[in-house]
Amino acid sequence: MKILITGGCGFVGTNIALFLKKKNYQIETLDNLSRKGGLYNLRLLKKNKIRNYKINICDFKKIQKLKKYDLIIDCCAEAAVEVSKNQIDKVFNTNLVGTLNVLKKVKTDKAKIIFLSSSRVYPLKNFKKIPSKFNIKKFNEKDNIIGAKTLYGFTKLASEMLIEEFSYAFKIKYLINRCGVISGPLQFGKQDQGFVSLWIWNHLNNKNMSYIGFGGHGNQMRDVLHINDLCNLIYSQIKKINKVNNMLFTVGGSTKSSTTLKKLTKICEKLTKNKIKFKKIAKTSIYDIPYYMSDNYLISKTYKWRPRKNIHDIVNDTYLWLLNNKKNLTRYF
Ligand SMILES: NC(=O)c1ccc[n+]([C@@H]2O[C@H](COP(=O)([O-])OP(=O)(O)OC[C@H]3O[C@@H](n4cnc5c(N)ncnc54)[C@H](O)[C@@H]3O)[C@@H](O)[C@H]2O)c1
Repeated sequence: MKILITGGCGFVGTNIALFLKKKNYQIETLDNLSRKGGLYNLRLLKKNKIRNYKINICDFKKIQKLKKYDLIIDCCAEAAVEVSKNQIDKVFNTNLVGTLNVLKKVKTDKAKIIFLSSSRVYPLKNFKKIPSKFNIKKFNEKDNIIGAKTLYGFTKLASEMLIEEFSYAFKIKYLINRCGVISGPLQFGKQDQGFVSLWIWNHLNNKNMSYIGFGGHGNQMRDVLHINDLCNLIYSQIKKINKVNNMLFTVGGSTKSSTTLKKLTKICEKLTKNKIKFKKIAKTSIYDIPYYMSDNYLISKTYKWRPRKNIHDIVNDTYLWLLNNKKNLTRYF
């Protein structure tokens, strides 16, 4: 099976590419290397004989000229929620026009598509305050999606809908994974890549931080999914795609992989033996949400899959990777 991974030099894309290469799939990637750290991942891909096409996802003329693929795994996005407030055209073009171009290529190739969507498709009004520990709502495929959700979230939802339209009109087989927070090795500890690796990196480097928003107490909560758990799931999905397709799944971590910021601080202190200072900043961006938890019922039932890694495994794996690559990484930033 010939597979193209768009956004293949990003955190998720490179991890999936390396994982699937080991399973003997023919893998190529498309990435314009706009994300800092992309060159680090490109080096890894090259070492593993995976070719990257440096193409902008908005450039359909170039995409059209690529060889024929059986499956495209679409991991290409401007993935930082906050960026979407200020760089409107960039987010709209990469995330939505990009999906359109991927779909046009899928249509020409008579290929299938697996799309990485986001939990940010749910409207912001659903997340007013942090619920009590015993009253946490988990989100799934049936939840309301009507309402403002950030421009990033809009482009992800619009992409989901576009995929359904193409599937209906052109009989394209698809799978959509609506993911919550993903973390693990190949996240470089940068703010716009997610809070887990940022927390570890700043502890590792003794950099003070702030608890921002919702009173500044650090009580925000997320379930986190280890990138290896996601790679295993995608592998199962590919193997079954002729039988199980045209479905949308909520994909996230578990209760065991969930954490508050305060809890994450404790785990990082224990691992790094560093104790950094935290400022309290009560207010946050209008795009910020205080919690998110995934209801994995449908995905677990369909693929007999569940996230294996708990929050300690996730932090530990990311910590070890950052520690071992610390010197190397600074060269790429
Ligand atoms: N990381 C998470 O926690 C998370 C959670 C939910 C969903 N997702 C989704 O998973 C996918 C991958 O996310 P990620 O964390 O790996 O992000 P990432 O930023 O690490 O990777 C995205 C890649 O896309 C590339 N790219 C951006 N604009 C491009 C363009 N115009 N043309 C070609 N390439 C371009 C970047 O260079 C980068 O390598 C995204 O669709 C994201 O929305 C990620």
